[in-house]
Amino acid sequence: MLRILTAGESHGPQITAIVEGLPAGIVVSEEALAAGMARRQVGFGRGARMGIEPDAVQVRSGLRFGETTGAPLTLVIENRDHRNWTAILPPFGPRPEEVDREVHRPRPGHADLVGVLKYDRQDARDILERASARETVARVAAGEIVRAWLGEFGILAFSHVLSIGGVEAPLEGLGYAEIRERAEANDLRCAAAYEEMREAIRSAGADGDTLGGVFEVVVQGLPVGLGTSMAPDRKLDSRLGAALLSIPAVKGCEIGPAFENATRRGSQVHDEILPAEDGVVRRRTNRAGGLEGGMTTGEALRLRGAMKPISTLKRPLASIDLRSGEACEAGFERSDVCAVPAAGVIAEAVVLFTLADAMVEVLGGDTVEDMRVGLDFRNARIRERFAK
Ligand SMILES: Cc1cc2nc3c(=O)[nH]c(=O)nc-3n(C[C@H](O)[C@H](O)[C@H](O)COP(=O)(O)O)c2cc1C
Repeated sequence: MLRILTAGESHGPQITAIVEGLPAGIVVSEEALAAGMARRQVGFGRGARMGIEPDAVQVRSGLRFGETTGAPLTLVIENRDHRNWTAILPPFGPRPEEVDREVHRPRPGHADLVGVLKYDRQDARDILERASARETVARVAAGEIVRAWLGEFGILAFSHVLSIGGVEAPLEGLGYAEIRERAEANDLRCAAAYEEMREAIRSAGADGDTLGGVFEVVVQGLPVGLGTSMAPDRKLDSRLGAALLSIPAVKGCEIGPAFENATRRGSQVHDEILPAEDGVVRRRTNRAGGLEGGMTTGEALRLRGAMKPISTLKRPLASIDLRSGEACEAGFERSDVCAVPAAGVIAEAVVLFTLADAMVEVLGGDTVEDMRVGLDFRNARIRERFAK
């Protein structure tokens, strides 16, 4: 229903997103868009690149006087660093004998080695420029448009960091509002254990090493019944899982505390159903993470993503030289030590996009107002069932 295509290299002139299928009438504020983009850049442990790029979004189509028109939206984010790379990434011209910053010592964990073999490239730069997480700037921009849209329906998403390098944030006793507030207030986007996490990143960085971690995305205010149990590929579980795993370096995902649930008895896991209040059926707990049968339950959606440690290491691992096949150390170029907080922000964007797609599926998507009428009707139908 809702489609996005992104293009652009990490050090090319720009990153572009084309988003098709947005309804007309989404009100977009330039300030909110800029503020949303800045959240992706936050994070103690990010490399110097984030200081260079302002990540200003230019809207080239689909928006008029601050409202979507229903036409495809084109979003452009220029790479300021490109001016230092024009001789390395020109679209035309003969390839010189020696190319500056050629990458021929692939990094374990990155796309370098498999990419050059698959695409038959001599310089892994052809691969890593696109595999780079710089691409996600486009999806975050699209996510901010969707955030404005779903916000109209009272749907709110936030993310926070649960752990970095094995250092966990203890969250007992904290509600969503407090977790959100605390996470937004620091550069690790965590609700607790800030100093310990920061020290872990500092120490790994000082050793020429890197860290991963786990983030959680929480979405509140979702209507009951987005997604379906009728077709496996349209189950929201599978779509949200795919969205999370599309983020570079995210290698695991969890719906609710899924791995912990797997160690417990059913009686300790399933969310008991309580009589309706004001027509709204409630649950005693939310260990399902807001999904049952591939559909939203109306409780908060809770998704976790496990990010592996960054694969570019200052103290490199063993590799081979692509030119000779001889053993060597992997290459290094400017890199993050840890990017888990940013991954959480990217996850918000891809999760919101997936939910927006499911909203269009259920409610149609010509205009935001049509959707509102449809949602009100649907909510009223569901409430009436148990209204006293
Ligand atoms: C926000 C973010 C920033 C990242 N920064 C780096 C980085 O600076 N250096 C690096 O080697 N990998 C970085 N990565 C991870 C790589 O992009 C990723 O590991 C690589 O493309 C290979 O893909 P895969 O890990 O999904 O298999 C980052 C990922 C994210 C989400």
